[in-house]
Amino acid sequence: HQNIYILAIESSCDDTSAAVLHNNKKLSNVVATQKIHEEFGGVVPELASRAHQQNIVPVVHQALAKANIDKKQLSAIAFTRGPGLMGSLLVGTSFAKSLALGLDIPLIEVNHMQAHILAHFIDEENSPKPQFPFLALTISGGHTQIVLVKGYFDLEILGETLDDAVGEAFDKSAKILGLPYPGGPLVDKYAQLGNPKAFPFPKPKVKDLNFSFSGLKTSILYFIQKQVKENPNFVEENMNDICASIQFTIVEILMNKLKKAAKQTGINQIAIGGGVSANSGIRKALKDAESKYGWATYVPKFEYCTDNAAMIGIVGYLKYLEGKFSDQSITAKARYVI
Ligand code: KG4
Ligand code: ZN
Repeated sequence: HQNIYILAIESSCDDTSAAVLHNNKKLSNVVATQKIHEEFGGVVPELASRAHQQNIVPVVHQALAKANIDKKQLSAIAFTRGPGLMGSLLVGTSFAKSLALGLDIPLIEVNHMQAHILAHFIDEENSPKPQFPFLALTISGGHTQIVLVKGYFDLEILGETLDDAVGEAFDKSAKILGLPYPGGPLVDKYAQLGNPKAFPFPKPKVKDLNFSFSGLKTSILYFIQKQVKENPNFVEENMNDICASIQFTIVEILMNKLKKAAKQTGINQIAIGGGVSANSGIRKALKDAESKYGWATYVPKFEYCTDNAAMIGIVGYLKYLEGKFSDQSITAKARYVI
């Protein structure tokens, strides 16, 4: 199994991505981000599918060119089967099926959430890999989960959000403050200059290891509306403190559940993934937890945190080794539990 070349395709949401892996190493990882959604303040599914259809061929060509390999050298095609937006998934699924058929090589379906977690196993210098069993916190615009990872293909969801994902909580809060979409990175930027204790927001009481973020959004909205009535410039004058307080609350919610999960399972290997892993507050809280609670924490390179095809490729490679192939009757799956 020395020379396995996987072409991976990811199209679950609003990024079209293709990657080539040589065994567990990334040769290329091309991502075409769809700017079109900015003006709508969120992803418009119909526009996303259309953009995927336009982007997919050029993105695949670029991935092959950057990897400097010919498509005839490919060992298999891996693709995101779900979860995600149906129209978006259909583009990647159909493309992957056709290409595998044309090249007469195996097809490998990949669960996007499993890929966010196994992204930690893409071989990179200075990037130690988590040891089994470990806990994975997946945080992005579409997902918030705590997963117990006992092996590559032995995953158990311990908790997840009952409503909004954590990235949505950031983006919707940012929208209330008049910031453009996606507002998460901007909240992070202002938060670094503000006082996290300036405005205490209530934390939801959610059972077990589950999360809820819709209440936080509502309390921020009411708080801002009330303040603006008294002072129309309240947001502008307090942007840093408001953002710091929002970020502080969200990070506390995440860390409290992680602590609970670590205690409950006795596991102190903690890996995070998803776009919100870029957040400076969560990164700092995790670093602090190493000395505070004796955790070993793992954050993948940012390139592998946001939606990308390299993470689909690593799952493709691991499945290839085990002969876990799919046949041509496979279909996309919008709801697809790990
Ligand atoms: O993984 P991702 O690129 O796409 C999804 O699968 O959703 O995650 C995007 C999400 C957005 O909600 C964005 O606002 C959030 O990640 N995000 C951040 C930061 N960077 C990206 N949220 C807070 N702080 C950041 N620094
Ligand atoms: Zn994702």
